[in-house]
Amino acid sequence: MDEKVRLEELKEILERANHEYYVLDSPAMTDAEYDRLLKELRAIEERRPEWTTPDSPSQRVGGAAAEQFVKVRHKEALLSLDNAFDAADLREFDRRVRAAAPAARYVVELKIDGLTVALSYENAALTRGATRGDGETGEEITGNARTIRSVPLKLRVSAGEPAAPVDVRGEGFMPKRSFADLNQEREAEGQPLFANPRHAAAGSLRQLDPAVTARRKLDFFAYQLLEAERWGVASQTEVLARLRQWGFKVNPEFRVFTDIEAVIDYCLEMADKKHSFTYDIDGLVVKVDDFAAQRALGFTSKSPRWAIAYKFPAEQAETVLRAIEINVGRTGVLTPTAVLEDVLLAGSVVGRATLHNLDNIRAKDIRIGDHVVIHKAGDIIPEVLRSLPDKRGGAETVFEMPEECPACGGQVTRKAGEAAHRCENPACPSRQREALIHFVSRDAMNIDGLGPAVLWQLQAEGLARDAGDLYTLEEEKLTGLERMGKKSAQNLLRAIEESKQRGLGPLLFALGIRNVGVKAAKTLAASYGSLERLRRATAEELQSLPDVGGIMAQSITDFFRDEQQLELIAKLERAGVLTTENAAAPRGELLAGQTAVVTGTLTRWKRQEAEALIEMNGGKTASSVSKNTSFVLCGENAGSKLDKARALGVPVYTEEEFAAMIQGG
Ligand code: IVH
Repeated sequence: MDEKVRLEELKEILERANHEYYVLDSPAMTDAEYDRLLKELRAIEERRPEWTTPDSPSQRVGGAAAEQFVKVRHKEALLSLDNAFDAADLREFDRRVRAAAPAARYVVELKIDGLTVALSYENAALTRGATRGDGETGEEITGNARTIRSVPLKLRVSAGEPAAPVDVRGEGFMPKRSFADLNQEREAEGQPLFANPRHAAAGSLRQLDPAVTARRKLDFFAYQLLEAERWGVASQTEVLARLRQWGFKVNPEFRVFTDIEAVIDYCLEMADKKHSFTYDIDGLVVKVDDFAAQRALGFTSKSPRWAIAYKFPAEQAETVLRAIEINVGRTGVLTPTAVLEDVLLAGSVVGRATLHNLDNIRAKDIRIGDHVVIHKAGDIIPEVLRSLPDKRGGAETVFEMPEECPACGGQVTRKAGEAAHRCENPACPSRQREALIHFVSRDAMNIDGLGPAVLWQLQAEGLARDAGDLYTLEEEKLTGLERMGKKSAQNLLRAIEESKQRGLGPLLFALGIRNVGVKAAKTLAASYGSLERLRRATAEELQSLPDVGGIMAQSITDFFRDEQQLELIAKLERAGVLTTENAAAPRGELLAGQTAVVTGTLTRWKRQEAEALIEMNGGKTASSVSKNTSFVLCGENAGSKLDKARALGVPVYTEEEFAAMIQGG
C-alpha cells in the first residue's frame, strides 16, 4: 500500500481507538495493538517528517516545549456566571427568566471543578487551545491541550460539514484518582503538593513542556459551541448532542426540566451524590435551553442572564487536633499526620489527616491542641485546612520537627529547596519496613500473604531486614510467628519462591528507585533487558528513552552507585531472583506478524538480546534481508544487509528508534 495512504489510515484508526477508549469508555482495541499501530505510524513519520501533522495521534505524548506562554485574544469573551446558593436564589432566577421568556425550559449540567479550556478547530483539525485568562485574553496551550486524550485532534465530521472554524469550550480537569496518585508521588519525593484537583489541573495545563502535561492524566468535558447557529443548532441540548457527535466527551449527567422546582430537586439530589463521581464538581449550572429565549434574556456586563451556577456548600468539619505523629516512609521522608478527635466528614468518620510537611504546618499556624477545620482534598484524603486561633485556650503547643528520626534516632536533614525532612539512615527500621511493604506490593513482586502485620513481625524477630532476607526464610522460623500455622507458612514460602520469576520490570519497580514508577520500570526493562545492562547505562543514554527525563535518569545512576543497593542486588541474585526480562512472560503482540533482521554492531544490546526482544514482542527474526523483511535493526558499521534493505525500501531503525518502538509494549 502507498505509504501516505497507510499513514492517513493509521491516523484515523488510532484516533478512533482513542475516542472509543477515552470518550466512549468502551475500548475496542487492546493496548498492545494500539501501541503496535502507533509505532508503525511513528516509523512512517520519522522517515517522512514532512508528513507529520499536528492532528496526528503521535502528537499526544507532548510535542516541543515552549519558551514562554503566548497571549491569545478570545474570539468571544469568556463570561462568568452569577451564583445561586440555595433554592430561594434559584426561584428568584426563575422569576427573572419567566419575565422575558415565559415558556423557558432549563438544561441542568454538572459544574465541573476544573478550568475553562477554549479549543479552536480549522478544517476540523485542532489548531489552538487556550486558557481563560482574564476572559478577553488567555494563554496559548495548544501543545498541552493535545495531550488530553478526550480532546479530539480531528473532529468526526461528515463530509462537507464544518468548513468554517469551530470554537468549543469546556472544562479541563484532573480526575480524583489521578490527583491522589500525583500527590502521593510528589509527597514521596518531597515536592510541594497540589491543594486540590483544580489546582493540579491548572498547574498541569500551565506547563511549558507538554511532555509534563502528558503525564498528568487530564480530562475534558465540552459544553459550549460558539456561533452554534451556523451549524444548524438552536439550543443547548442540541449543542451537547452535536459536540458528542463530533467526538467530544460530554458529561452524561445533564437533565432537561420545565419547572424550577424540578431543577431544585435535581440540584439537591446531585449535592447528595457529589462524592460518587470520579471527578470534583462544585455545583450545577442551570441554563435556559432554547437560543431564542437566551437571546431574549441577553447579558449583563459580566454574565448571561440565561444561566446561573448553583454552588454546593463547601464540605468541611471542625475538630480538635490532639497530637502530631510522624511517619517515616521508605525514601526517608518524615510525614507529619494529625491525630484528630473523631469527626464525621463527607460521609465517613475521620480521625487522622495529613499535614504534609513542616512548611505547611507553619504557613497555616497549626498547633497541637488547636481547633482545626478539615476537608477532603480531591474528596479522598482528609487534610487540615486551617486552625482557629480564636478558639485557643493557651495550652496549645507549637510543633517542631524532631532532629532525630522517631523510628531510629538517626539524623534528620532537610535539603535546600526541598519541603521534606528526611531520615538519612538507610538502616532505619521504619524505612526498611516501608521498603519491604513496597517490595511485596501488587505492582512490584506481588507476594501474597505478606501483609504489613507479618512483615512487622518478621522485622521485629530479626528475620527480614531487607528484601533479600525474604528469600532466606524457612518454615520452622515462620511457624514461630503469631497466627502462622504450618499451612500458611508453606503457602507464604511458595508465594515468595514464585516471586523470583516476576522478571525485570516488577523487580525494578520493587527496588524503589526514586522517581521510577510502574510504567518507567516497564520501559526500562523492555529497553535494557537485564539489571546488569541497566546498571551500566549512562544518564545520557537513559534520557534518550521516551519516558525518561533528566531527574529520573539521575536517580537511576545514583541508585546503582549506592553500595547498599548493590549489596541488596547481589543478595537477590544469589537467592535466584530473576534479574532479566521474564522469557516465559506473556509475549507482547507489538511485532506480531513482523520479521526483523538485526545487523551491524549494536551498542545497547548483544545481538542475541536484541533478537530475544523482538521475539518477546511477538516478532520473528531472520538472517537475511528480503522483500518480506518488515524492518532492519541496524547498528554501526553495517554492510550489505543495510544496502539491500535500502534498495528494497525496507524500513531501517537505529537502536534508539527500536528502543522507543518497544517501550511500554
Ligand atoms: S457554562 C456563558 N457549563 O464554571 C456560559 N460552565 O462561571 C459559561 N463550568 O469557570 C459557562 N462546568 O469553566 C458552564 N457545565 C458547565 C460548566 C461550567 C464548569 C465552569 C466554567 C467557568 C465557571 C462558570
